[in-house]
Amino acid sequence: SRLLLLNGPNINLLGMREKDVYGEFTLQSIEDELTKLVKTAGGELDCFQSNHEGELIDSLHRANELSYDGIIFNPAAYTHTSIALRDAIAAISVPVIEVHISNVHKRENFRHQSMLAAVCYGQIVGLGRKGYRLAAQAFLD
Ligand code: DQA
Repeated sequence: SRLLLLNGPNINLLGMREKDVYGEFTLQSIEDELTKLVKTAGGELDCFQSNHEGELIDSLHRANELSYDGIIFNPAAYTHTSIALRDAIAAISVPVIEVHISNVHKRENFRHQSMLAAVCYGQIVGLGRKGYRLAAQAFLD
């Protein structure tokens, strides 16, 4: 399978930002780990991170045009705000698994709502970096 790992705003700062919430690992280490995991299973993984909503939307459209088999997406704070990302996910036929490193339900009220979850294939929350791995595994299965 051909998969896309997509990460939203501030995820490039993993390893430095709010370590008590997000842990000490870097985005690079997640990208490396998932690339290896997907490759071992005979698939292919592309990775992209952006702090810009429009670039994330373009990336979803592109994955659809290129008929990817699945998208592992941590939309970060846009999860809670972006109707545009929701419409993009609803518009494409590639299934999306929404991933959050932290347990958003234990945190501020404004993180309890996802604008995107209802149009996603599934959601993984609060399992740290393992969440990305489990999402990839779900697509590979
Ligand atoms: C996050 C949770 C969001 O609420 C937050 O804005 C993030 C990261 C997570 O992975 O836990 O930036 O998506």
